[in-house]
Amino acid sequence: MGRISTAALFCVLLFTSVLAAPAPASSASGAPTVSDASAAQPSPTTPLIKDDPNDVIPTTGTVEPIRGSLGANILGPDNQPMDQQNPDLLAPPTTDQGTVGNAKWPFSLSHNRLQTGGWARQQNEAVLPIATELAGVNMRLEAGAIRELHWHKTAEWAYVLKGRTQVTAVNPDGQNFLATVGPGDLWYFPAGIPHSLQATNDSAEGSEFLLVFDNGDFSEDSTFLLTDWLSHTPLSVISKNFQVNSDALLNIPAQQLYIFPDAPPPSDAQAPADPQGQVPSPFAFSFSSVNATQYSGGTAKIVDSSTFAASTTIAAAEITVEPGAMREMHWHPTQDEWTFFLSGEARITLFAASGNSRTFNYQAGDVGYVPASFGHYVENIGNTTLHFLEIFNTDHFQDVSLSQWLALTPPALVKAHLGISDDTFNHFNKTKQVVVGPAKS
Ligand SMILES: *[C@@H]1O[C@H](CO)[C@@H](O)[C@H](O)[C@H]1NC(C)=O
Ligand SMILES: *[C@@H]1O[C@H](CO)[C@@H](O)[C@H](O)[C@H]1NC(C)=O
Ligand SMILES: *[C@@H]1O[C@H](CO)[C@@H](O)[C@H](O)[C@H]1NC(C)=O
Ligand SMILES: *[C@@H]1O[C@H](CO)[C@@H](O)[C@H](O)[C@H]1NC(C)=O
Repeated sequence: MGRISTAALFCVLLFTSVLAAPAPASSASGAPTVSDASAAQPSPTTPLIKDDPNDVIPTTGTVEPIRGSLGANILGPDNQPMDQQNPDLLAPPTTDQGTVGNAKWPFSLSHNRLQTGGWARQQNEAVLPIATELAGVNMRLEAGAIRELHWHKTAEWAYVLKGRTQVTAVNPDGQNFLATVGPGDLWYFPAGIPHSLQATNDSAEGSEFLLVFDNGDFSEDSTFLLTDWLSHTPLSVISKNFQVNSDALLNIPAQQLYIFPDAPPPSDAQAPADPQGQVPSPFAFSFSSVNATQYSGGTAKIVDSSTFAASTTIAAAEITVEPGAMREMHWHPTQDEWTFFLSGEARITLFAASGNSRTFNYQAGDVGYVPASFGHYVENIGNTTLHFLEIFNTDHFQDVSLSQWLALTPPALVKAHLGISDDTFNHFNKTKQVVVGPAKS
């Protein structure tokens, strides 16, 4: 009999009453109580974790709020399709405990602003209060359609989902920029820089993309639009500003255009000649041509200002995870993670310290959020490749790997905490594993 099972037996004999009682709760303020503090002391009398694997409950057939001997079926009204998508909320792992704010927002639940030529729907702090550092917009432009010339107080980072989009900008030094950006590629406009987006007809349907903003408060409905400004300025002022007769200005729209149809731009368009020259750091980046690093369970590639110099407030990782594999247990030391799911099915548990943890499930088109320093993993729980983006409000990507941390700590120190054998310790890897393959049996 190994050390763990001996200890477990000892524990069961001595602490049956403790285990049967509800888990010691944190105080209302979230500060640990005295009993938490004493329970945390490693000693032969500390209860050990249970051998329940807490796998995702099967979602074939009716999903019920039942996990092992806990729970009971639903008798009242129920939204089964929602339950099927969120089995770990309906029947949480028994390791979930305490209070962690909601960390899931499907764009399907966003209000959609429909325009001739496209649409835009957003996620921000108003709908997902935990997401204080970043916000997102999913935007669609038919071929030729324009998201009008505008600017805003936050920076804008984009990942192209489908089709190609022509982007233009001019910086405060009067240097201009134009690029046509395709699937898997990025653009970035610093805060306040005026820009435009227009779908080309390189594909007949036009384009769709994900926009991410470096402030959770961002609202797509409060950007500064060219036509909105001019339609709210006296005509005599506009006339004086451009030194033209006001008759020449009477086709200016009386309200904002926001998204509107137009003829597609040529796909090889160049920026107009600029006496000040081009912006010093391009506002677009060919992320699709960066080769991913292969790991045992999938791939990862990272972009931040070290390769995309203009992108000084957004860093990102693009991750694939094969069925059964997992983005390893890790955290980001100082940065909140805004996650976007491109395909597949995932589960994430947010560990929020003080005994608090909560598990969420995600599908394509969902936004997830992980506050800075919260421990987490991203497990592929479907039968297809899981593909997602991790996005951060920072100039530099960083993560801490649990496995690497422990592998590089004196073994006796780690073993004193976890009660593991040398053989088990030797599975911890001094090299970051990033995406790990299915569990060894
Ligand atoms: C795309 O637009 C260009 C310019 O308007 C036009 O010449 C071309 O025929 C269009 N191509 C397709 C496939 O619609
Ligand atoms: C990316 O990988 C491809 C195929 O393996 C290779 O041909 C290419 O040179 C690589 N590119 C870079 C930038 O390493
Ligand atoms: C994956 O495939 C297996 C076998 O075909 C099936 O039993 C299971 O329900 C599938 N899981 C999901 C999440 O689709
Ligand atoms: C650690 O990971 C590397 C690859 O990153 C692998 O070659 C090696 O076998 C791993 N070591 C252990 C002990 O798992």
